[in-house]
Amino acid sequence: MGINVLVVGSGGREHALAWKLAQSPMVAQVFAAPGNPGTAQVAANLPIPAEPASLLAAAAELSIGLTVVGPEVPLVAGLTDAFRAAGRTIIGPSQAAAQLEASKAFSKAFMIEAGIPTAASFTAPDTATAAGHIGDFGYPAVLKADGLAAGKGVVIAQNEREAREALETLPPGRIVIEEFLTGEEVSYIVLATGEGFLPLQASQDHKAIGDGDTGPNTGGMGAYCDGRIINEHQARQIEDLVIQPTLQHMAARGTPFTGFLYAGLMMTSAGPRVLEFNVRLGDPETQALLHRMDSDLAAALLDREPFRWRPDPSVCVVMAAQGYPGTVRTGDVIHGLDQAPATVFHAGTRATGRGIETAGGRVLGVTESGATLQDAVDRAYAAVRMISFDGMQFRTDIGHKGLRRW
Ligand code: AMP
Ligand code: GLY
Repeated sequence: MGINVLVVGSGGREHALAWKLAQSPMVAQVFAAPGNPGTAQVAANLPIPAEPASLLAAAAELSIGLTVVGPEVPLVAGLTDAFRAAGRTIIGPSQAAAQLEASKAFSKAFMIEAGIPTAASFTAPDTATAAGHIGDFGYPAVLKADGLAAGKGVVIAQNEREAREALETLPPGRIVIEEFLTGEEVSYIVLATGEGFLPLQASQDHKAIGDGDTGPNTGGMGAYCDGRIINEHQARQIEDLVIQPTLQHMAARGTPFTGFLYAGLMMTSAGPRVLEFNVRLGDPETQALLHRMDSDLAAALLDREPFRWRPDPSVCVVMAAQGYPGTVRTGDVIHGLDQAPATVFHAGTRATGRGIETAGGRVLGVTESGATLQDAVDRAYAAVRMISFDGMQFRTDIGHKGLRRW
């Protein structure tokens, strides 16, 4: 008899987690709270709020043996602390360790203290002080709001006028002004176990809304995973210069980090530089990663078995709703879901009498693998072209960075 697993969250990453965990021989039944119409295909959805008391009660009632938290918000709210206090196994950092993502100012100060390579920066206590420092690192200038912003709190300003405009749109509070770095952007995620860590493969996100990385930043418009994104030497560098010291210094501060640690990196000519830490799996990186993960995810989470990967590269193309990343329109009926020959992870969808409708900014993550990256890209886009809804937006160049490099 396997164990019951609870996945917390309702996006594409959580659908991919539920999909992968449901394939494990160690797992009896997957539950998703609150889940979405996609998780309902592989799990039982629990219509309960994502807050500790309700989740703990559900975990007790359903004899949940393992809980996996997708998004950052419940982690920052202390969900893992509540579960651990009740003696329940949960994957994710404590509220104190989740500060690495919750505050850009905290994470910058932490990196400086721990000697972790990152962009030169100045943290302004408020907008007025920031206004006096926007040109400190030249242009383009990078401006980051301090708190959680679903990937949308960062502005890259090409000149002083754009920087001043951006200051008006960012939420009030602390602002980090940063040197602009160039290079390949890489998402390097590890599972920190408390004693050590198990690395996942490197993947690449596409943060801007438009082809060729144009337009405003989003939570991620697509991702791909291919064994060539970084080489062995670069992986060692990232682990030695970023992952190890982060885990060591978090432990030394009395806030040890466990769970998924996501280093968003720029691979500059001088080596890796951290752009941001996340305290969870990436979305949509997870959809691409899990599609080609050969090993049993539950065995990694429970028994610390190292991850294994199929050689086939994978691609996830996000289909977003009209207006995203601004104010989105919802309620558009999605056509072609049953015909699309790919794994279609649901994110912002809902089931109604009219069928499956859009219900959020990022709607679907159409995911495929192939013998080559080109194959994976072609297959993913063949499926994307069979799906439609009014106002849909998707990038047509997911994975092309890799195609150009190799
Ligand atoms: P963050 O949320 O800090 O990862 O920033 C969102 C995105 O903005 C990143 O994925 C990068 O594409 C870009 N970005 C952030 N910081 C920098 C930087 N210092 N130099 C260049 N691009 C950056
Ligand atoms: N895809 C970027 C993130 O999950 O933050």
